[in-house]
Amino acid sequence: MNKYNPFNPNSVVSTNLFAGRKDYVLRILKKMEQVKKGMPASFFLFGERGIGKTALAKLIMHIAENPDQLLGNLKFLTSYYSVDRGQNINDVLQASLNELTDKMPPSVLQYLGNRLGSLLKNGKFTIGAFSLEMKSQNERNIVVRDQLIAILSNLIDAIKKETEDKKHDGVLIILDEMQNIKDMSMCAQLLRGIITTLDVKSLGNIAFLLIGYEKVHKALCAVDPSARRQFASVSLGVMPTDEAEDVLIKGFKEAKVLWNQDALDSNILATGGYPHS
Ligand SMILES: Nc1ncnc2c1ncn2[C@@H]1O[C@H](COP(=O)(O)OP(=O)(O)OP(=O)(O)O)[C@@H](O)[C@H]1O
Ligand SMILES: [Mg+2]
Repeated sequence: MNKYNPFNPNSVVSTNLFAGRKDYVLRILKKMEQVKKGMPASFFLFGERGIGKTALAKLIMHIAENPDQLLGNLKFLTSYYSVDRGQNINDVLQASLNELTDKMPPSVLQYLGNRLGSLLKNGKFTIGAFSLEMKSQNERNIVVRDQLIAILSNLIDAIKKETEDKKHDGVLIILDEMQNIKDMSMCAQLLRGIITTLDVKSLGNIAFLLIGYEKVHKALCAVDPSARRQFASVSLGVMPTDEAEDVLIKGFKEAKVLWNQDALDSNILATGGYPHS
């Protein structure tokens, strides 16, 4: 009989097997608690290939949408989107918003339907539909930005109006594989415009979590110097040995295999702190 192997390097660890990374999680959660109060926060999570960025994002997403007294009692509407090669930010954000609609309560969708006109049709958002005479790229960028602001401000408005027991805290949008995005400078400017405008309108219950390699974070800051302030940089490093051991022990327990602590202690260094090793 094949034993179940919980360490599948091709899939992202399930939340119950996730181990370590406590300081990173707490740091991000602390900011999410502020987002809940209307202070927007955004992050850029970077680190080497396979270091555990997506796994950490998946855990944050889980915590953000399932209220837990010990973890800030968060209840965010969340989306996760993995950017494909050459995609532009408009399409990525449209897809993220459409992932959010699947999780929206009917009352919220209805509220949006009443306000957004053609931006929301059959429960799906369409942004960037231009009239033919609108040719310049700059004009188009402004339209897209304003459409996104219209959608997000109405959405945050709507969740603020939900009944107390069902109320969402805000919106968390996770964009993974940011190295694939086509228009990084447009992206930085656009997100900043959205966040600032919502903040000024007292609708700052929004967080973006961008994920990519360090060079992408550098590129983002290079094209937009304010990005360094706007996006809290979270640099994910190799795991300390005790955390790497926790990963293995959790997996062993899950697979119901026995392990020898001495052998584990002597072999753990070989992983170099890479969770998938
Ligand atoms: N804290 C953790 N506990 C348990 N397993 C983990 C942890 N972090 C990562 N892993 C596992 O290690 C592997 C690699 O992690 P992950 O896919 O998150 O890395 P990544 O940084 O997103 O990689 P890439 O740069 O290729 O996108 C996955 O199988 C994941 O489930
Ligand atoms: Mg990843």
